[in-house]
Amino acid sequence: MLQENKRIMSASFVRKYESIFACPICHSSMKVIDLKSLICLNFHTFDFAKQGYINLTTKYVKSKYSKELFEARRRLFNESDFFEPLSQTIANIINKHIGKTKKASSILDMGCGEGSHLDTICNIVNSVHYHKVVGVGLDLSKEGILLAAKNYPEHIWAVADLANTPFNQEQFDFILNILSPSNYAEFNRLMHEDGLVIKVVPQSGYLKELREHLSLKPEKTSYSNKEIVDRFIESFQLVDISRLSYIARLNKSSIQSLVRMTPLTWGTTEERVKSFINDSAQITIDLDLLVGKKQV
Ligand SMILES: C[S@@+](CC[C@H](N)C(=O)[O-])C[C@H]1O[C@@H](n2cnc3c(N)ncnc32)[C@H](O)[C@@H]1O
Ligand SMILES: [Zn+2]
Repeated sequence: MLQENKRIMSASFVRKYESIFACPICHSSMKVIDLKSLICLNFHTFDFAKQGYINLTTKYVKSKYSKELFEARRRLFNESDFFEPLSQTIANIINKHIGKTKKASSILDMGCGEGSHLDTICNIVNSVHYHKVVGVGLDLSKEGILLAAKNYPEHIWAVADLANTPFNQEQFDFILNILSPSNYAEFNRLMHEDGLVIKVVPQSGYLKELREHLSLKPEKTSYSNKEIVDRFIESFQLVDISRLSYIARLNKSSIQSLVRMTPLTWGTTEERVKSFINDSAQITIDLDLLVGKKQV
C-alpha cells in the first residue's frame, strides 16, 4: 500500500472514533481535519504520519527501547507460540466480560510496544463475537508504534505518554497493560464504569533460564512483584489474580529473538548473551494476571 494511502486510511478510521480523543495540551475535544491532522478546539495540531499512526506527544522523550528490540519481539510472536497462551488467556477474560455486557467494545493497550499482543487479542475476540472490537494501542516509543502501524493497520496507533493520554474520560471497556509501566489514576479516568483493567506482571520464574545464565544481580534473578500487586489492589476493585506458567520450546532462531527482545540483556556482555544461544531451549514463562474494576 502507498504510504500516502496509509495516512489517509488511518485518518479516515480515526475520524469514526474522534470523540474518544482529547487534546494532550489543553484537554479540549479534537477533530480530524482534511484527513491530515487531529486538531483541538484551541488549534493544537497533531499530524498523521505517512506510516498510519498519530504522534500526540507534547515533548520529545528518548526511549530506551530500540527498533531492534521491537523487531525481535515481533519475530518471537510470529516464529513461536511463546506468547500464545498469554494472548488466549487475556482474550478469554475479555470474551467472558463481553458475554455479560453484550455491547461493542473498545480495548486500549497501554504500553503496547510493537502491537502484536493487541492485534492477536482483538483477532481472537472478533472471531468469537459478531460485533467488532476497536483496538487502540499507545506507546511512548515511536519505533514501537511505527512497527505496529506498519503491520496492523486495522487498529488505531498513537505515540503518547500513558501518564497523560490524549483521550477523554470513560472511553474504554478494557485497558491492557502488559509488562509495561502503569499510571493507575489515568487508567481509572479512562475506563468505563463497567470496564476492566488487565495488568500482566512477571512472576518469580519468568525467563529464569536466561536470568540464571546471565548471572544477574539478586534483585534481577529472584524477582518479586508483591509491591506491584499491592498497589494494584489499592487502586482498583480486585476481580481476579491468576498465575499463568508454562514452558515454551524454542529453536535457535527464536532463542536469538528472545535474547534481543528483553531488557534483561541490557548491560551484559555480548559474549554472555551469545553463549546462551543454543540449537534449542526450554524457557519458562511465569506471569501474574491482575484483573480489576473501577473502585466505587
Ligand atoms: C517491556 S515493553 C512491553 C511492550 C508490550 N506490552 C509487550 O509486551 O510486547 C515496555 C513498553 O512500555 C513502554 N513505555 C514505557 N514508558 C511509557 C510511558 N510513559 N508511556 C507509554 N509507554 C511507555 C515502552 O516504550 C515499551 O514499549
Ligand atoms: Zn489543545
